[in-house]
Amino acid sequence: MSVIIHFLPDDVTIHAEVGERLLDVAERAGVSIPIGCLMGSCHACTVELEDGDVIRACISPVPPGKQELTIKLFSDPTW
Ligand code: FES
Repeated sequence: MSVIIHFLPDDVTIHAEVGERLLDVAERAGVSIPIGCLMGSCHACTVELEDGDVIRACISPVPPGKQELTIKLFSDPTW
């Protein structure tokens, strides 16, 4: 099943498959999420979902049960 992923603030929309890693989706969309360890421990890749949940893109797959997902990138210059 494919899910529409909407990246903010870049305002980029792309289709992704359930289970696809969000980091890979972002890469495919041309959106750059800062990365570090790629193992879920450094929090460099932290993004925020529309409901306020904060997740790490490198270990987070596209969740099932949604047709659309909005992902907000933090633009914290200290990353
Ligand atoms: S890159 Fe380190 S937590 Fe994702």
